[in-house]
Amino acid sequence: MLTLDSIAIPDLHPDAPVATRKARLTDIEAIHELIGYWAARGQMLVRSKQLLAETIRDFFVLEAAPHEGRPGGLAGVCGLHLLAPDLAEVRGLAVHPAFQGKGLGKTLVLACEAEGRALGLPALFAWTYQQKFFEACGYTRIDKTNLHPKVWSECQRCAFFENCNEIAMLRSLD
Ligand SMILES: CC(C)(COP(=O)(O)OP(=O)(O)OC[C@H]1O[C@@H](n2cnc3c(N)ncnc32)[C@H](O)[C@@H]1OP(=O)(O)O)[C@@H](O)C(=O)NCCC(=O)NCCS
Repeated sequence: MLTLDSIAIPDLHPDAPVATRKARLTDIEAIHELIGYWAARGQMLVRSKQLLAETIRDFFVLEAAPHEGRPGGLAGVCGLHLLAPDLAEVRGLAVHPAFQGKGLGKTLVLACEAEGRALGLPALFAWTYQQKFFEACGYTRIDKTNLHPKVWSECQRCAFFENCNEIAMLRSLD
């Protein structure tokens, strides 16, 4: 197990086959752990199991198969949360440390994008510290002022509400 501040995630094999699917309620524990792993490193906002349960239909997961004696498990997660009829937020994006830099983060963001297009959304939004990653996914940095009020929906529960360094990024689907 890889641990930090009592957060433990499975030691997945980096060459394990990975498949994308919609999340299930049985994924909540593993999603909570993976997001907690990166939240403990200051990379993202922690999410409670209650909030994950309420929004589980938002999420895609990447499932790694057992490989060469190591267990299978959650290789990545990302959600698309509807904010308004014309806007959704890509949120809760996390890739397991064994699978960094293999295109899986982009795979997840593209799965959200495909769902957004299927719903008829004109644009997707993200809060992030990972500007370069989102630029590689076709997003553009936008000014935090004059944002749609709904994009602040999670900010009240964030520890950095008064001192937020996250960047706002937008992807037009037109
Ligand atoms: C950010 C994160 C999701 C990226 O996932 P990943 O699987 O490593 O990224 P990918 O391999 O899919 O990269 C896709 C593209 O982004 C680029 N990229 C990714 N991370 C980058 C970085 N830190 N700096 C510059 N470019 C980066 C890649 O070079 C690649 O570019 P290409 O498509 O032109 O080849 C992953 O590093 C992670 O889980 N980080 C910790 C949690 C986190 O920060 N989540 C984001 C919260 S909004």
